[in-house]
Amino acid sequence: MARECMRLVLLLIVHLGLTYGSRRANLLRSHADMVVVNPPAPEPSGLCEAVVTPHGYPCKEYEVTTGDGYILSLQNIPRGRLQKGIEEGKRQPVLLQHGILMDGMTWLLDNPDESLGYILADSGFDVWIANTRGTQYSLNHQYLDPKKKAYWAWSWDELVEYELPAIVGFVHTQTGQKIHYVGHSLGTLVALASFSEGRLVDMLKSAAFLCPIAYLSHMTTPIGQVAAKAFIGEIMSSLLGIPEFNPKELVVADILTGLCKQSGFNCYDLFTSLTGKNCCLNSSTVELFLKFEPQPTSTKNMVHLAQMVRNGILTKFDYGPAMNMLHYAHFNPPVYNLSHIPNDLPLFLGYGGQDALSVVPDVQLLLDSLKFHDVDKLSIQFVEDFAHADFVMGVTAKSIVYDAIIAFFNRHY
Ligand SMILES: *[C@@H]1O[C@H](CO)[C@@H](O)[C@H](O)[C@H]1NC(C)=O
Ligand SMILES: *[C@@H]1O[C@H](CO)[C@@H](O)[C@H](O)[C@H]1NC(C)=O
Repeated sequence: MARECMRLVLLLIVHLGLTYGSRRANLLRSHADMVVVNPPAPEPSGLCEAVVTPHGYPCKEYEVTTGDGYILSLQNIPRGRLQKGIEEGKRQPVLLQHGILMDGMTWLLDNPDESLGYILADSGFDVWIANTRGTQYSLNHQYLDPKKKAYWAWSWDELVEYELPAIVGFVHTQTGQKIHYVGHSLGTLVALASFSEGRLVDMLKSAAFLCPIAYLSHMTTPIGQVAAKAFIGEIMSSLLGIPEFNPKELVVADILTGLCKQSGFNCYDLFTSLTGKNCCLNSSTVELFLKFEPQPTSTKNMVHLAQMVRNGILTKFDYGPAMNMLHYAHFNPPVYNLSHIPNDLPLFLGYGGQDALSVVPDVQLLLDSLKFHDVDKLSIQFVEDFAHADFVMGVTAKSIVYDAIIAFFNRHY
């Protein structure tokens, strides 16, 4: 059973990549056709230039170096479009942390009046956008090369230990203020695990979690059918030989194509099977999304997520008993105990009834870990119609979720 679950997760993620990957390939082909007529414009050098400044917002690029040598890009939108006169130092900083196979683009995909990154800037916040190691704007390292295996030797444990502290510390120093945090998907897991170890909390005013992920043992069914049909053992071992999990690369793409054929499943629908039935996506947003995503992650990170499904508790990466002794001086990996999250840290949790990744029974488990949290420091919002992508890309997310987050931030100034 445990093994089945682990297969299931890998399959889920593999299929997510496949759905995006193949559609992206089509998009790239049509771009290639255009190139014959017009020489391509040079690639924009960062996220600011690529999407933010064209909308009329000020945007500045920063670099942050983590304790393990990764050089990350960070964007700052210090104010909205129409607030030129207001002094920037007085704004409350908000840090946005995206999920897996995504990057900072997550927060900027819809129109400015629908995307959280712009809405926060227009609502008077000082917006900071993180980009995890391995994604397109965060590929540099002090001495490791992303084409080499050593660059990809990390899972979300390293995001907890090195990456988030570097980013939060940087924004805290730059702004001289405590920060509001917003995470989506993996961006919630990394923060929850950090808080459970007492990290970061002294630099934060509050944290808002969209589609929180801490437990993964109740993931829903359509994918189960695929898992049952597919031939995963082979795929697993091929994947483990590849340190970088990049849905766009040939090797991974081949595995994915093969898997899709074998499973006899309509791969086009797999985005829905994985994220759930999103109610409210705009097709132009989805197209923009396909142009910029999906972003690579490490295979080790995927395996760590798979272990969460198998084990049902939240631990550091499980190397197996012998290697665990070496890494942790213990046969079992250390636990991230979520009931150790400080009870007085203001938390907002938004989750959806249609989400196939952050499913309701798993969110209930998380809420159970938070049962001693101060009642007036915990805001919970359940949206029956929403699935995983609606929370960051849904055209109705502003009135349903973002306005509530802004009110929450303003209550915990
Ligand atoms: C969908 O996106 C297009 C292009 O940005 C925009 O013109 C349209 O208003 C959007 N639709 C909704 C419902 O937001
Ligand atoms: C987490 O901590 C609580 C309180 O300290 C303890 O009762 C519980 O057993 C711990 N859970 C795990 C999985 O270690």
